[in-house]
Amino acid sequence: MGILEGKVVWVTGGGNGIGKDCALIAAKEGAAVVVNDLGGGFKGDASDSGSAGPAEEVAREIRAGGGKAISNSDSVTDFKAMEALRDQTLKELGGLDGVINPAGILRDAMFHKMTEFDWDKVIEVHLRGSFNVCRTTIEHFREKQSGSYALFTSTSGLIGNIGQTNYAAAKLGIMGLSRVLAMEGAKFNVRSNIIAPVAWTRMTQSVPIRDEAQAKRREQMAALIRPDQPAKLAVALISDLAKEVSGQIFGARGETIELYSQPRPIMTLTEEAGWTPEKIATECFGKMQEKFFPVSRSATSPQPEQKAS
Ligand SMILES: NC(=O)c1ccc[n+]([C@@H]2O[C@H](COP(=O)([O-])OP(=O)(O)OC[C@H]3O[C@@H](n4cnc5c(N)ncnc54)[C@H](O)[C@@H]3O)[C@@H](O)[C@H]2O)c1
Repeated sequence: MGILEGKVVWVTGGGNGIGKDCALIAAKEGAAVVVNDLGGGFKGDASDSGSAGPAEEVAREIRAGGGKAISNSDSVTDFKAMEALRDQTLKELGGLDGVINPAGILRDAMFHKMTEFDWDKVIEVHLRGSFNVCRTTIEHFREKQSGSYALFTSTSGLIGNIGQTNYAAAKLGIMGLSRVLAMEGAKFNVRSNIIAPVAWTRMTQSVPIRDEAQAKRREQMAALIRPDQPAKLAVALISDLAKEVSGQIFGARGETIELYSQPRPIMTLTEEAGWTPEKIATECFGKMQEKFFPVSRSATSPQPEQKAS
């Protein structure tokens, strides 16, 4: 028996990369899967209306293996389409138990060159898309007092990455969304967690290669840092075995799973006589400086304690 036996699961962005592996692994674990994918390019260009092909191909692969799956090629940005998909899922598959939402695009640019379109499109697919798939399904989950979300964030938001202000803002927005969903859902057995994956997919392949050494490193990385690894984490999170896990932030990179901290105050200073702007700038910042976070990328960020499994 698989860990999702008898469950019905949505996987958005299920035509490629991590989403595709989420769909295949969820089906292998016994779930009936709704494979959603717009079937467009990785940039979500205005001219790119997408195709039903990738989602249907994955659904067909699941059915050919003896599993149950239907496909859908609507955009997660379309609230009405997600409502219709929920109704179709409940009618045709008899319920809905989990939502895995890796649908995503990238439109990188340095901030001073970022267009409104780059900004809006990335926020729309990642943040609005996460809102849409959660909002259209939450009432069903609350009514039956069970349901789980596995949403996707990124180290580009949690830690930061140059050229990705739009993506970082959307991905940190998803952190807030998931956290509050988890808080509001606690009484109703509705859970939400987020994953910051690292995997070799068409999205990571879009980052330009500088030289041959980098090309070689990527080739090695492709074999070790695969999409099935974060997909297994997503499937585990929406299973009943994870019923105590909610409101958490995980990283998945190769066979390593990380648990992230969450922002809390790390130092407090109170000035009983009242702060002035000058005092804040000199005394307060002066005392806090030793605790300031460096403006560094993930490679130079503090490394966590390692534990073998
Ligand atoms: N691959 C990585 O290393 C990495 C790192 C950090 C975060 N992520 C996140 O993980 C998730 C999956 O990334 P991936 O690397 O598998 O990407 P991918 O490009 O391989 O797959 C994304 C899929 O989403 C689909 N999609 C795009 N817009 C859609 C929309 N509006 N509606 C429905 N489907 C849509 C695409 O057609 C595609 O099939 C994304 O949210 C991404 O931001 C990935």
